[in-house]
Amino acid sequence: MERTKVTLRTLGERYKSATPITMVTAYDATCARLFDEAGADTLLVGDSLGNVIQGQSTTIPVTLDEMIYHTRCVARGTKHAHIVADLPFLSYGTSLETGLVSAGRLMKEGHAESVKLEGGRQYAELVHKMTQMGIPVIGHLGLTPQSYHTMSGYRVQGRDEEAAATILEDALILQEAGAWGIVLEMVPVALAKTITEKLSIPTIGIGAGPSTSGQVLVGYDLLGITDTFKPKFVKRYKSLAEEIREGVRAYCDEVVRGEYPDDEHSFS
Ligand code: KIV
Repeated sequence: MERTKVTLRTLGERYKSATPITMVTAYDATCARLFDEAGADTLLVGDSLGNVIQGQSTTIPVTLDEMIYHTRCVARGTKHAHIVADLPFLSYGTSLETGLVSAGRLMKEGHAESVKLEGGRQYAELVHKMTQMGIPVIGHLGLTPQSYHTMSGYRVQGRDEEAAATILEDALILQEAGAWGIVLEMVPVALAKTITEKLSIPTIGIGAGPSTSGQVLVGYDLLGITDTFKPKFVKRYKSLAEEIREGVRAYCDEVVRGEYPDDEHSFS
């Protein structure tokens, strides 16, 4: 069947028909094209590019200009998937105006189709304003990596009753403000299930168990390109790190042995 462009309407229909929504992170045009051709519903230009692409230990140093650059690359490689871009740390929290201008730049210069922001009730007014102004927003609750230091590292969130109730309330507040969905990261399965049942918008889980309306994984994690560390929730569908090393090793060996380039790969 001919694939059509995935819009918020498409995602809404998938949600209503209880068909899980798929999201994968992409940071460049080539991966975006491959993930799009593989059928991902949404591509997330996550600020995890700070870790994956830039080799930083947190997402905190990622700038808005870097997010715009990578979003533009992803947009060039994407035909069908809905493109979500992360608002990076401190590009939206300081004032309503800052948030609107940052989100606007991700859409106008990066060609994002939605923006994602980390946090709950403190952004209710911003999310409301954004959606009023034509900026689709998806929230992000539970483990919010931009709060690495206040959360004392990457750890499961919402384990006790009070913390779980706060995450649920935040999700309801973001929904009320106009968010079209909520990413739930590293929360207990039961909490993700409760939130998903109480909301009337999709939840997209990462380390949140099977009951959310969709799933997101970092592309490099699911393909096994990142092989230095594996969170419990990551499933590696391929082991590309070893394939890549083997390929480059074979190339280097052939060059050293004088076997490459041969006649087939040269111009007469
Ligand atoms: O930046 C990112 O890749 C994310 C996902 C982990 C949800 O926010």
